This record gives sequence, structure tokens and C-alpha cells, in this order.
Amino acid sequence: MANSRLVREYFRGQFHPPVVPTKKFTGQTIIVTGSNVGMGLEGARHFVRLDAAKVILAVRSKEKGEAAVKDITQSTKREGIAEAWELDLASYASVEAFAQRALALPRLDVVVANAGIFMYDFELAEGNESSITINVISHMMLALLLLPKLRETAVATGKPSTFTFTGSFTHWWADKPFVEKKNDNILASLNNKETARMSERYYLSKLIQLLVSRELAEELTKSPKPGKVIVSVLNPGFVATQIMRRSSKAFKIYLAVLRKVMALTPEEGGRMLVLASEGDEEMHGKYLNSGKISEPSDWVMSAEGKQIQEKLWGEVTALLESIHPGIMQNL
Ligand SMILES: NC(=O)c1ccc[n+]([C@@H]2O[C@H](COP(=O)([O-])OP(=O)(O)OC[C@H]3O[C@@H](n4cnc5c(N)ncnc54)[C@H](OP(=O)(O)O)[C@@H]3O)[C@@H](O)[C@H]2O)c1
Repeated sequence: MANSRLVREYFRGQFHPPVVPTKKFTGQTIIVTGSNVGMGLEGARHFVRLDAAKVILAVRSKEKGEAAVKDITQSTKREGIAEAWELDLASYASVEAFAQRALALPRLDVVVANAGIFMYDFELAEGNESSITINVISHMMLALLLLPKLRETAVATGKPSTFTFTGSFTHWWADKPFVEKKNDNILASLNNKETARMSERYYLSKLIQLLVSRELAEELTKSPKPGKVIVSVLNPGFVATQIMRRSSKAFKIYLAVLRKVMALTPEEGGRMLVLASEGDEEMHGKYLNSGKISEPSDWVMSAEGKQIQEKLWGEVTALLESIHPGIMQNL
């Protein structure tokens, strides 16, 4: 059973983090979203240390971004490599403006779609429940908008570019309670404040993110366009960051205890962002656990999982096409 394997892998990963990455990113341009704190900050620091030419911290607060740039520059002693660019994933206009700016870069080798929120309060952002907007739709929009630049870079360098989503093993907890999967429009039905089960919503957002990312990878495999882009979803495990800042008080207390026993450090989590970005073609379309190729839950791999994956892909891409007409031609 894949799910019992997931549990074993999860516990193993908590006590055996991957070693510090050593493969160089010389000359590369890298974007990490949500990199002012947590794993994103530490991943960005590793990329700078590993000789990247430019590491763009895509952050919603310029001030926090500049503080992170200063911190990375001081610790790595590499001046002018990290820079902060504004990106608020709760605003489609911000995603479009960020992508427009990134498309003007001479090259783009790696994107880590790492930012995320864990919300217990129901809030809308751009017409959808905010964790679906931020964890799923905006990052998928960013991926599609940046594809031409990632492909162009792959052709120019003769090696694949990478786009990695920071996912979560918690996708596995979401498929049974996910009753909305039977609805005609799944995304629309997640916008009902009265029926939203917010204590489970983060897990569901990570399940939906995983499904649509798998479909994106399949679409790219089929595409005849030149320039390979490796798409993967990584599970970092349980990492001691502030991701649960907007969960309930009781859950925070429970996690504080668990954190003492088994959480990885943000630096250990950051290693996994780097490992997923090294350009291993075997990683394309895969779920990565602790920096290695693994498999997602039984349900994701089931016939029903695939059917819902295709349905969600249809819904997300129709929504993206309505926000940014023509975006699907980037595939
Ligand atoms: N920690 C874990 O145990 C764990 C486990 C599995 C997966 N993950 C995933 O790992 C990723 C990184 O999280 P983390 O644990 O490092 O937590 P974190 O320290 O809370 O970092 C989350 C980052 O996302 C940014 N962000 C939130 N909303 C945003 C928005 N609207 N626009 C742009 N950026 C936004 C945050 O910016 P602000 O500082 O401005 O809020 C922050 O930089 C997330 O996708 C999370 O779901 C975490």
C-alpha cells in the first residue's frame, strides 16, 4: 500500500534529512517565491552559496524582501546575487506584473513555487478561497506565464529548466473528506463559506496543487515545443517554520510539542528546494519526498484520482484563460 509507504518515508525523512547539496548552479537565474522567511529563504541562501548568478526573492513585502537579501548577502559573502522582487500571489495583477518583469530577464533556469498559506479563516482572494488562490491558482498562472522563458533558456543552455512546487505529504489526508470532488464545478463549490471545512482546507489545497501540477507535467511531455522544462512537486516533511501562523490556537500548541520532537530546521527544508532544482530529468512529473523521487497517495494514483485531476485541470485552466486570455497557448 502506497499510503503506508508514505508514512514510513515521512518518519524516515524527519530524522534523516538530505545532506547539504553541493551541485553548482553556476551562471543560473533562479526565482524562489515566498523567500523572505522559512524554507524559501534558506533555499535561496543555498542557491546563492552554490554559485547562482541571480537569485530573485519573490516576496509580497519589499521591506521583508530587502531584509532577506541583506541577510543572505552577509551570510554567503556574495554581493549583488540575491534581489527582492514584489509578488503578491493574492493578486492576479501582481502575478502578471511579476511575470512580465521576469520575461525580460536574459535567462531563467529555475523557479521554485514555494510560497504558501495555511488558513483557518475563510477569506476570498480574487474570487476564490484564499488558500486555493495562493497555493494553487496563482502559482499555476506563474508557471504558464514563465514557460516561454524557461523553454528559451533550456534551448540556449542545452539543459532542461525546472519548475518545482512546494507541496505537502498532507495531500494524503484530503481525498476522503473531499466531497466536493463530485460537484459539477469543484473550485466554485470550495467558495461556499457555510460549507468550507477550513481545518482541512490547507491539505486540500496541497492535494489540488499536486493534481494540477501532475497534469501540467503531462501536458508538457506531450508538447512538441523545443526546450524541456522539468515539473515536480516536493514534500519537505514537517519543518519548523511559521506556516501555521493562521491556524487555531489549539493546533499551534499541538504543533509546538510535535516540533520539539521531530521537526526539521528551515535550512534542512531549504536543501530539498535545491535538490528538486538540480535538473534531474527523472524527476519530471514526480512527487519528491525528502529530495528523492517517490509516489503520492494511493488515491492520487487511482483511476478516480486521475479523473478528478483532469477535471480540476480543466477548471483551473478555464479560469486562467478567463483571467489572462491566450495563456494556455504557452503550453
Ligand atoms: N513547514 C512545514 O512543515 C511544511 C510542510 C509541508 C509543506 N510546506 C510548504 O512549504 C512552503 C514554504 O512554507 P514555510 O514552511 O517555509 O512557511 P513560511 O515560513 O510561513 O513561509 C511562507 C512564505 O509564503 C509567503 N506568502 C504567503 N502568502 C503570500 C502571498 N500572498 N504572496 C506571496 N508570498 C506569500 C510568506 O510571506 P510573508 O512572510 O509575507 O507572509 C512566506 O514568505 C509552503 O508552500 C508550505 O505550504 C511546509
